[in-house]
Amino acid sequence: MVELSDQKIKDVIHVGNEKFVPLITKEQIEKRVKELGEEISRDYKGKLPIFIGILNGSFIFMSDLIKNISINCEIDFFKLSSYGEQKISSGKVKLLKELNADINDRHIIIVEDIVDSGLSIDYIEKLISNFTPASMKVVSLLVKPNSLKYNVEINYIGFEIPDKFVIGYGLDYAQKYRNLNSIYVLSEE
Ligand code: IMP
Ligand code: MG
Repeated sequence: MVELSDQKIKDVIHVGNEKFVPLITKEQIEKRVKELGEEISRDYKGKLPIFIGILNGSFIFMSDLIKNISINCEIDFFKLSSYGEQKISSGKVKLLKELNADINDRHIIIVEDIVDSGLSIDYIEKLISNFTPASMKVVSLLVKPNSLKYNVEINYIGFEIPDKFVIGYGLDYAQKYRNLNSIYVLSEE
């Protein structure tokens, strides 16, 4: 679990009356993404996995992750509707883009930016159950273990974080702030 107090506050991002403070630095992300890439490369040695990113949030993590994959691999994307303009989930998920690849008999690795309630991953697992992949695992950069409401298994986890709203490194607030290279958390001060 990443603790807020672990981080020296270097920078603050103001969004209206709200304040976001650093939670995970660029260097910590780089180090952990490299470790995940190495672990997945070892686990899938001799196989040809297909990484399936969940758009939009996962695009930066997915891109950095596969640069750390040392075996052959393929990629594809699902696009799900997002939180919209809110900090809390609508509780509904809509599929906005199907896969192009044929995933039958393939080793698939779902790539998420963050697992909060687990609703999105649960939805994706149900979609995939219509096919017959050789295997399916999930990698998520961030997991909020205290928010999980669905019984989903996340096989590779970058960081467990507190149950607080975060932005940066692909994660948005009303579609903005995805371009920040560190992860910032909503401050309660
Ligand atoms: P879940 O379906 O409740 O697990 O939420 C997962 C999705 O909601 C993620 O793919 C993100 O797009 C979004 N999300 C969840 N928590 C946050 C957050 O703290 N900041 C930004 N987006 C989030
Ligand atoms: Mg997402």
